[in-house]
Amino acid sequence: IPLPRRLQGPGNMLHLAFRPEQFIARQTAVAPIHQVVMPWFSPYLVSDPELIDEVLVGRSKLFIKDRFTRELSLVTGNGLLVSDGDFWRRQRRLAQPAFHRERIAAYGAVMVEHAERLASTWREGQVLDIHAAMMRLTLDIVADTLFSTGVDRAIADTIGGALDVIMERFSDYTYAFLPWLARVPLPKNRRFHEARGRIDGAIRGIIAARRASGRDEGDLLSMLLRARDDEGGQMTDEQLRDEAFILFVAGHETTALALSWTWMLLSQHPAAWDKLRAELDHVLGDRAPTLADVPALRYTDWVAHESMRLYPPAWSIGREALEDLELGGVAVPRGAQLWMFQWAAHRDPRYFPRPDSFEPERWDADLARRIPRFAYFPFGGGPRLCIGNNFAMLELVLVLATLARRWRPFVRAADRPRPQFSITLRPAGGMRATLQRR
Ligand code: HEM
Repeated sequence: IPLPRRLQGPGNMLHLAFRPEQFIARQTAVAPIHQVVMPWFSPYLVSDPELIDEVLVGRSKLFIKDRFTRELSLVTGNGLLVSDGDFWRRQRRLAQPAFHRERIAAYGAVMVEHAERLASTWREGQVLDIHAAMMRLTLDIVADTLFSTGVDRAIADTIGGALDVIMERFSDYTYAFLPWLARVPLPKNRRFHEARGRIDGAIRGIIAARRASGRDEGDLLSMLLRARDDEGGQMTDEQLRDEAFILFVAGHETTALALSWTWMLLSQHPAAWDKLRAELDHVLGDRAPTLADVPALRYTDWVAHESMRLYPPAWSIGREALEDLELGGVAVPRGAQLWMFQWAAHRDPRYFPRPDSFEPERWDADLARRIPRFAYFPFGGGPRLCIGNNFAMLELVLVLATLARRWRPFVRAADRPRPQFSITLRPAGGMRATLQRR
């Protein structure tokens, strides 16, 4: 039941601060669209799939990214995730061919190779932070597919180390509320600028070396370097650096999160684990997967879908209205912030009976086609649909299959982390798991 309006401000703040998972999940039940009043700002929460469709697809030209996301360009530069308008459109057109299905297929082998390498370093009974392990794995995969194997270990480590610092700054909400804080010479700001400088230097060096060699390495960077717009124009070095950087940021933590939450859910649900194992035994026997196996790994694919339903790595999408408009009968003024929560939509019992229960089988019989487009949207949708969505799905299936064939990373009930509603949905304090050889 919504609180009386004059109580909403502090009530909402407290609820959001102390029980974010509850606060966010109940939004679908409040109204298809409603304004939440808070002391500093009052966003509109859009919960109805048809209205989300209007914002992200039908009337997408009337919106830009929300204030928080735009603020991120200070951290990331002006790459695809944060740019808007004509600039974004041109960059998206230039980058799109690098993500065509056939191109992505070529990266499958890199994904399996890295996962196999990781699996062979694991030891029976080893206790580790499985999320940290998944972060390193997806970073190696994105580094190799973006810059190919030409990048030596030292540069990859520089990028990895600097990214840790940057991601910490990336998900610090204080800066969204107090943007001037970024200009204060605090130690954490200094650390951030140093890391940014290191990463810029590393990426610039890679781009310069590639331009000098002129070789086509068959990686994402070669595709971006070759891309031309309608007038024959190409990306400048600075644009290339920003795009390469954003692919690192957007492409590795999200995928790692999907994998980590999946290990947790599979530990909680032994029956689902058994079915996954049965499928892997049946399809793969005792060999590692290849791209050709992917269509047969149906249960693995359902597990990935169901995991991202309950723990969507991107748990919310934000937009800002460019003009006064009306949405679902509610007047939305220009400049209003609109939020759409995957965390809430994915728990709507109209489309997902027993919404809190982990049931990979529900994805059988083409569930995705039977529900509205925005009842399930881990990758967003419309023109700003995640450019890496096919890449990510392939990576999830291949990495899950490769690792689960040899190991079970088991997360005990006492070690199950709470989700932290940062920019992404993170396991608070990491995720402790014990490795069990199968
Ligand atoms: C955009 C989620 C993996 C690159 C997005 C958006 C979402 C998302 C929800 C849309 C944001 C919005 O509309 O405001 C995810 C999830 C992933 C994943 C859940 C993994 C499970 C990847 C990968 C890459 C990538 C692997 C690259 C290799 C991007 C980029 C954008 C984006 C560049 C901005 C696209 C644009 O606006 O033109 N992602 N993503 N993502 N994603 Fe992903």
